[in-house]
Amino acid sequence: MQYRSGKELRELFLSFFEEKGCKRFKSFSLIPDDPTLLFTIAGMVPFKSYFLGIKTPEVTRATTSQKCVRTNDIENVGRTARHHTFFEMLGNFSFGDYFKNEIIPWSWEFLTERIGLDSSRLYATIYLDDDEAHDIWKDKVGLTEDHIVRLGADDNFWAAGPVGPCGPCSEIIYDQGPEYSCGKPTCAVGCDCDRYLELWNLVFMQYNRDETGNLTPLPKKNIDTGMGLERLASVVQNTPTDFETDLFKTIIDKACELSGVEYGTDSKKDLAVRVISDHIRAAAFMIADGVLPSNDGAGYVLRRLIRRSVRYGRLLGIEKPFLVDLLPAVRESIGEEYTELVERSSAIAQVLNIEEERFSKTLTQGDDLLETEILKIEKEGIKVLPGEVAFVLYDTFGFPIELTEEMCDERSIKVDKDGFITAMEEQRTRARASSKQTSSSIEKNIYTELANKLDMTTFLGYTETTSDAKILAIISNEELKESVTIGETAELVLSQTPFYAEKGGQVGDTGLIVAEGFEFEVQDTLYPVQDLIVHRGVVKSGSIKSNANVTASIDFNRRKNIQKHHTATHLLNEALCRVLGNNVRQAGSLVTPTFLRFDFNYFAPLTVDEIREIERIVYEQVLTVLPVKTTVMDIEEAKKAGAKALFDEKYGDEVRVLDIKGFSIELCGGTHVKNTGEIGLVKIIRDEGIGSGIRRINAVVGQPALVVFQRYSQTLSTILNMLGEDTDTILGKVENILDEKKVLERKNKELQVKAAMADIENSVKPAITENGVDLILEKFAGITPDLLRQIGDRIRNKFPVAVIVLIGIGNEGNVWMISLASNEAVAKGAHAGTLLQKLATTMGGKAGGNPSHAQGGVKDASKLNDALTKAPSIFAELMKGQN
Ligand code: ALA
Repeated sequence: MQYRSGKELRELFLSFFEEKGCKRFKSFSLIPDDPTLLFTIAGMVPFKSYFLGIKTPEVTRATTSQKCVRTNDIENVGRTARHHTFFEMLGNFSFGDYFKNEIIPWSWEFLTERIGLDSSRLYATIYLDDDEAHDIWKDKVGLTEDHIVRLGADDNFWAAGPVGPCGPCSEIIYDQGPEYSCGKPTCAVGCDCDRYLELWNLVFMQYNRDETGNLTPLPKKNIDTGMGLERLASVVQNTPTDFETDLFKTIIDKACELSGVEYGTDSKKDLAVRVISDHIRAAAFMIADGVLPSNDGAGYVLRRLIRRSVRYGRLLGIEKPFLVDLLPAVRESIGEEYTELVERSSAIAQVLNIEEERFSKTLTQGDDLLETEILKIEKEGIKVLPGEVAFVLYDTFGFPIELTEEMCDERSIKVDKDGFITAMEEQRTRARASSKQTSSSIEKNIYTELANKLDMTTFLGYTETTSDAKILAIISNEELKESVTIGETAELVLSQTPFYAEKGGQVGDTGLIVAEGFEFEVQDTLYPVQDLIVHRGVVKSGSIKSNANVTASIDFNRRKNIQKHHTATHLLNEALCRVLGNNVRQAGSLVTPTFLRFDFNYFAPLTVDEIREIERIVYEQVLTVLPVKTTVMDIEEAKKAGAKALFDEKYGDEVRVLDIKGFSIELCGGTHVKNTGEIGLVKIIRDEGIGSGIRRINAVVGQPALVVFQRYSQTLSTILNMLGEDTDTILGKVENILDEKKVLERKNKELQVKAAMADIENSVKPAITENGVDLILEKFAGITPDLLRQIGDRIRNKFPVAVIVLIGIGNEGNVWMISLASNEAVAKGAHAGTLLQKLATTMGGKAGGNPSHAQGGVKDASKLNDALTKAPSIFAELMKGQN
């Protein structure tokens, strides 16, 4: 068989299906437009609503190489030949078009003729009673009976989840040869071992399964197929596992170079290298598609992958941040097809870096936790680390169980692996329960029905503020209505509209929809589903029927303010890049009539100078009165022109490009001012971090900015009046006041100490007197060791034959102790060091010193009272020992 690279195989597959009439789509995002799934888990996911008949596809045949992530078997990654978190699924799809009769012979043709697989090694599995598929394999393809295997629903019925489109399937199996067999007598097609490799899954998508498990036939019969590119490459390149294929080779080599590992010489190290090589691909793609590390959802998965990688890096002895160094290898192996890896490379590196650094901190905490637990276990003599603890280490601190085991093993402690597995399974059950699909989100609801039935509302709002329109639908309480009347809330769908519906961060318009004797106040305009605009509001007077002719007018003043803030957002985006560097990328925005919010990736708080410079640059563009123009163009053309695009936004082939002459060019569907002069005043009012290297700026422009300036100036005037200063002298005055305040505070403290000391000399009494030696025992809160010593000296004057023990409790609950014994007391057998040591031990702390001076400390004050109660008898014991 001819060697083919991963890239060649991908291309062969896509062009083969193009020849069969399928439209080639670029891979869709890893983050599906589907609230029931965290990630795109198969090629069919982006097409789900076509299969269900909710939406009508623009074509009936499609083919993709789809980026996919599956994390249900993360522990197996690197251990088996085929498990991955990230993989590419080669797929082709028929939406009510071709079916079994075509796809079965085509798949055979592709594998045997295009790729040249040895047909005697190929088998087909079919669903138990699928005689139709059986006959096609036998009669049309010519497979012999012993190469067609009937299997049950576990193997040959496919569904993307518990509910939704599904159907029987037929899998094409490649026999890797007896050397890959598990050796069991039962090893045959369907065996889980490496011999019979499931290469390609052909799903005959015929049913929709509802929540009760009922199957109803779909409106049309569909085809969904999926073949793992990595597997195919492994078979064609004849490698023992996917990790030796060219899709992984550069990454594996780089990981080996960074860790000094020679691949293939130590199975444990190989495993770590494979895990890292797998996870870095998934992490890079997730970040490229807009995922950021967090504590739930997709962000949590990303966090886990990064942390596992770092931990495995430590196992290989890599102590420095290293994940970023693997990125060039990832790009080299796969970046030509997935250009987002190249376009967003700096953002990917930045996010990885921050997360890796952050984990280095929890890693140490995890180490500490394990150490504490091991000490506990050693004390109790159990010799087994509870599974729960191992699981917390695994789950919270990202410690692989093998690492926990190794670290325990060095101390002759075993890990309760059963307990660990139980804890993990409990968590998996919880995770599964939370990711269960619900049908509601894919149900045909009123909005999707309308979106399908009606033509898309024509948007006139780029140029018009008012227009005639026809009411196409009235929705009230999620039901279609014939009419609405005064007092009712409703959503109106119009044939055309000047109202902008919330999108791309810009809030929806408000305004009025009127007709003879009828007035409807629009409080918001939005897309409840893609391709449907509704005007949400309340009937103020009269009533109206569907199909009526109306006039729709937006609140123009409000819209003007929105436009000012929107154009200012573009100026801000560009100014941020100019001041903070070109790595800055927009991560989100909100544009309202009264303020704008802009999120972007950056690692540090902005300095006062940076903020001032950003404001200056933005304002300079306002003063220059730059024209603002929009053009609709081809996406590739826009990219070539250098247009900025949003991080995780999906764009069609035709895009709208906003050009602020000579300053900024950006893809944008929003509405804008005609020239930057309209924006007026500009003020950044807040810069804050919102986690994981993302910062948020709030700013105001135009009238709202004036209000902010007026408020600032009003506050300043009030302060000036209060202090009788002017703007030149006020700063010095405030500094003086603060300095004076500091001096007064210090004096006040000194007085407090003096008062405390005076009181001490009068109030202190011996706790016990033994052999003529007094024990003085006193505790103080919120005091420094230095002050304790001063107090000790004062007390000594009053009690010449004494051992003085003074205890200070710090603000964090820590305890300082000093002990002083006078010469006379020492002569009578007192020993400050021994006494303090005994006391500290009772509290789990440490102390030391000589007969006349000692000091010590305890981390936690919880046993302090107990120790104080015992102190007199400890002292008495010690003194008696001297007799
Ligand atoms: N959707 C099918 C699978 O993932 C092809 O196996």
